Amino acid sequence: MNNHQSGPKLHVALGDRSYDILIGTGLLGNSDAYEGAIHGRSVLIVTNETVAPLYCETVKNALSARHTVDTLVLPDGEAYKNLATLERIFDRLLSDGYSRDATIVALGGGVIGDLAGFAAAAYQRGIDFLQLPTTLLAQVDSSVGGKTGVNHPLGKNMIGAFHQPTRVLADIDVLASLPDREFAAGMAEIVKYGLIRDAAFFDWLEANMDALNAREPSLVTEAIRRSCVNKAEVVAADEREAGERALLNLGHTFGHALEADLGYGVWLHGEAVAAGMCMAANLSQRLGWLDSTQVERIERVLASARLPVAPPNDTSAERIFDLMRRDKKVQAGNLRLVLLKDIGQAVLDTQYGDALTSTLAHYLAA
Ligand SMILES: NC(=O)c1ccc[n+]([C@@H]2O[C@H](COP(=O)([O-])OP(=O)(O)OC[C@H]3O[C@@H](n4cnc5c(N)ncnc54)[C@H](O)[C@@H]3O)[C@@H](O)[C@H]2O)c1
Ligand SMILES: [Zn+2]
Repeated sequence: MNNHQSGPKLHVALGDRSYDILIGTGLLGNSDAYEGAIHGRSVLIVTNETVAPLYCETVKNALSARHTVDTLVLPDGEAYKNLATLERIFDRLLSDGYSRDATIVALGGGVIGDLAGFAAAAYQRGIDFLQLPTTLLAQVDSSVGGKTGVNHPLGKNMIGAFHQPTRVLADIDVLASLPDREFAAGMAEIVKYGLIRDAAFFDWLEANMDALNAREPSLVTEAIRRSCVNKAEVVAADEREAGERALLNLGHTFGHALEADLGYGVWLHGEAVAAGMCMAANLSQRLGWLDSTQVERIERVLASARLPVAPPNDTSAERIFDLMRRDKKVQAGNLRLVLLKDIGQAVLDTQYGDALTSTLAHYLAA
């Protein structure tokens, strides 16, 4: 592969499902970046109406020398990550006669990646797909690890499959059009990797957050690279979330409860996770694992990324507790939480006892 346009390349080691993640500038328009990842002639780009006018032509131009390329433009939004939209993808694949050697190219954020990936997992029992993530969150989280799926009215991400892409191209040029709030939401997941397993990365983020906010390309590239390394290591060790992969849910049980309480879409997922990680840090301090200096460092780095560091105060502790107990990670009635033994060392814990009540009371009225 021609790699003269700079940028790191990572390998996700998953046996015969292994693949590369390329990170850098100019990737979407560089036909060499796709080489070896698309095996058949036909390609269907699945994207949405926000991303299509910005980047679809670039991708099409890069591919059309070697492939027959068509595009399916879906409506934008989490509300469309459902079975009805999935059916639209299948309708197009079938009516246009796509065969088993076709490739789906997912061009968009996590919603498009999850939808298009699941369509690829199920169409004719599985065809190839490429991830071209266009949000920071998708570049550091949803495009890596092979989880795909859609929402059901009774639960988020409840219908899906594990299906690994044949390549991920994380082109940082696309971040130029990403709104600040979406950028910050992706940064929450980046900070999460530092907190759960990479203390040196956390230190680096702390030192560089201002330049990251300014989207300085070499620093953004490094933050994405280091995040993908961390996620890829966790996924390689535990592809189907039997153990370590659950640590990626730091802040998420709290965060999902906040998202549900506020109504989905009021806070972005990453914003809720940022507040949730602060709540997990508060609880970890009560257990004697973190000291106040460490908790303050966590709050400061998230605040400097322009993220919330506490839940909104118009909800109640009781409501959040009820919503947390409904989280899908609850096993046998026992709410397992990801907590921090140290910055860079997360653990799954069920023995926090009354400290959870104290943490909720710290932020919220009864
Ligand atoms: N599969 C996984 O492992 C995994 C992990 C985390 C999250 N997810 C899923 O990812 C989804 C969230 O992903 P997201 O945060 O990327 O949201 P998203 O896909 O809804 O994108 C956010 C918004 O940004 C727009 N957008 C995308 N790229 C843009 C660009 N370059 N410039 C301007 N606007 C752009 C989108 O059209 C959308 O309006 C959720 O459905 C979540 O469940 C999946
Ligand atoms: Zn998340």
